[in-house]
Amino acid sequence: MAVRHESAHLHVSGRALYADDIPLPPNTLHAAFGLSTIAHGRIRALDLGPVLEFPGVATVAAAADVPGENNYGSAVHDDPIFAPDLVQYVGAPLFAVAANSYITARKAARWARVDYEALPAILDIRSALAADATVLPTQRITRGNPVEALARAPHRLQGTVHVGGQDHFYLEGQIAIAVPQEDGGMLVHSSTQHPSEVQQIVAHALAKHSNQVTVQCRRMGGGFGGKETQPALIAAAAAVLAHKTGRPVKLRLDRDTDMMMTGKRHDFLADYTVGFADDGRILALTVMLASRCGYSADLSGPVNDRAMMHIDNAYFLEHVDIVSYRCKTHTVSNTAFRGFGGPQGMVVIEQIIDSIARQLRLDPLEVRRRNFYGTQDRNVTHYGQTVEHNLIPTIVERLAQSSAYVERRKQVAEWNAVHRHIKRGLALTPVKFGISFTATLFNQAGALVHVYTDGTVLLNHGGTEMGQGLFTKVAQVVATEFGLPLSAIRVSATDTSKVPNTSATAASAGADLNGKAAQAAAQTIRGRLTQFACETYQVPEAAVSFRDGRVLIGERQYSFAEWVQKAYQSRISLSSTGYYRTPKISYDKTTLRGRPFFYYAYGAAVSEVAVDTLTGETQFLRVDILHDVGQSLNPAIDLGQIEGGFLQGVGWLTSEELWWNAKGELRTHAPSTYKIPTARDWPPYARVQLLEGQPNGEETIYRSKAVGEPPLMLAISVLLAIRDAIASCGPPGTQAELVAPATPEAVLRALAGVRSENGVHAAPESRVEADV
Ligand code: MTE
Ligand code: MOS
Repeated sequence: MAVRHESAHLHVSGRALYADDIPLPPNTLHAAFGLSTIAHGRIRALDLGPVLEFPGVATVAAAADVPGENNYGSAVHDDPIFAPDLVQYVGAPLFAVAANSYITARKAARWARVDYEALPAILDIRSALAADATVLPTQRITRGNPVEALARAPHRLQGTVHVGGQDHFYLEGQIAIAVPQEDGGMLVHSSTQHPSEVQQIVAHALAKHSNQVTVQCRRMGGGFGGKETQPALIAAAAAVLAHKTGRPVKLRLDRDTDMMMTGKRHDFLADYTVGFADDGRILALTVMLASRCGYSADLSGPVNDRAMMHIDNAYFLEHVDIVSYRCKTHTVSNTAFRGFGGPQGMVVIEQIIDSIARQLRLDPLEVRRRNFYGTQDRNVTHYGQTVEHNLIPTIVERLAQSSAYVERRKQVAEWNAVHRHIKRGLALTPVKFGISFTATLFNQAGALVHVYTDGTVLLNHGGTEMGQGLFTKVAQVVATEFGLPLSAIRVSATDTSKVPNTSATAASAGADLNGKAAQAAAQTIRGRLTQFACETYQVPEAAVSFRDGRVLIGERQYSFAEWVQKAYQSRISLSSTGYYRTPKISYDKTTLRGRPFFYYAYGAAVSEVAVDTLTGETQFLRVDILHDVGQSLNPAIDLGQIEGGFLQGVGWLTSEELWWNAKGELRTHAPSTYKIPTARDWPPYARVQLLEGQPNGEETIYRSKAVGEPPLMLAISVLLAIRDAIASCGPPGTQAELVAPATPEAVLRALAGVRSENGVHAAPESRVEADV
């Protein structure tokens, strides 16, 4: 049902409480970090005396002040809370200071005297590859015989795909408030997608047990993957200061600090060789994927695994070899970001297909079609999962029709034939995205449902709300199970003391997992209420139903509240936990084979752009999207996710540029230099539709599908539309070497390449060879 977001009235009136709005106890201290100013080096001496002497300062904490483990690394323990002796990026936390005000803490932090011994820094992927610097072991997936198939292929292309990183730019920055409790307890309010991990890391940092630490999060002002692992650092630092002083400590990062200190989307480069047939079918593909992981592992393992797994996107790759290097650089440690490596993998294959089509002078859509996974054969991915319920052909055909792709392809060509400076481009790209955490164990969830004697319901589950509408969807599930109006359900803050051992709200699986867990809890209570009715009136179960706020028992009717009252008086429990784990999945992460995903979500987009070939600026003219959400839990929220995810992807691929200088300083650390899309970047013509009549083929909650991440990748159509416009400046067969993000500078460089080489050219660090 298309109901509004449960907090919409609070969002629009400014009354929604974010961590920063929580009223503070009167003795609260405010904290700030002191950061490394060099990319790589040893700390010879750290003198915090002047910081401590700064008027208004209560205390400082550095590595030696952490009572327990000075680390917040999630996968590998390689992320110090405070750098002990080695610093590995500009922005690495050295210490934190707590003072009587936020401004005082920030000012005081600047008074530290640090003596560094600088070491050579590796600042980009190519240098890391040359130095063999990685944070994790190299992975490889091979299927068939790619070397032989390449040798036999009638056509071959080699090239490099560059795709940039992305800052999360959540509107609410990282923040935590640590409040000491009686007898060694610690309460932490954290803006986090992963309260259980924050709880664990705070406990470890303070040398406490998990049952002494409680983490709460009512909502985030956006997370986008940036609040999976990163919040633990902020929370742990606040908790260390709170522990040391016995006073509440609030630690909020300002935007610049947040952008310099916290991990981002991995930028990637991919060197590939592809062999293909006359009709554009891919016969063999070898790819070297390399990503900038930054100084530590963080989530780089699973992010890069997903890039390897999603490099097929919607296409069958029979003979394939993918090698993935997880490069170590002396920059911030990169982390989860909507799509989790999947988008980077897909950009690679979509550019390859685009290049094949240009080489063969075919329409790229035609080449895409010829490479789609089949339904009976050619339907097993390179990691061994069979693609079932494949909706790609259906979606693409419907969208090509409804967007008038063929006619518009002609119109674009006509426009370009008569316009010298403004060139148009068009592209249709599909998305197939695997749903589930690739780490199988995370695919579990818990919920806690209370029914009160007035017939109202309080719902708690392990998922977190970051604007995506999870709380609304799960509340809808509980309302449906009890036959109650949504207004009877209240959702409480995520709280590690209510539902324990939860997974991050991530991998788009929030509603799948928590919806099912909450359903299980509600069904347990409903079962008890039903049983009670059967016993009271000697009716079979089938005679009892819950509808429109009423309980119907044979001919009798009670309001839900009345029946609950009666149950309470007969000493029936009105509270239950619920638990769910995803069935069918199993995956061997050492061989990268198995069935990592419960199912796939699909979609496709057609984008049209106009490129000003004199300035390099792009105007986004039109988008048509058709996206698969199964049987939607909430079409209004799903459309919002599709539009928002798509535009966030457009920002990633066109305007958001992370730029580090030669000293490893991120120079784009504020909206003045880092350009996220605004409402004005939404195209004047946009048609976004949900695919109707296709419930999930797997038994998910009400046959819905996850929607959080997949739409971001629809934005690849915009990048390829720009590429299409650029290529139109050369003769047929022209390859445009466009890097992402396609900023005006990148567009001008690609145009210069097209012009200088008249179609076949070499931009720095890249090569496209025709039929090598
Ligand atoms: N939508 C909003 N408004 N804010 C967010 O932070 N995060 C995205 C997506 N949509 C995000 C969002 C990411 S990265 C994921 S994994 C999913 O939401 C997580 O929520 P879900 O599992 O409930 O879809
Ligand atoms: Mo989303 S990147 O899985 O938090």
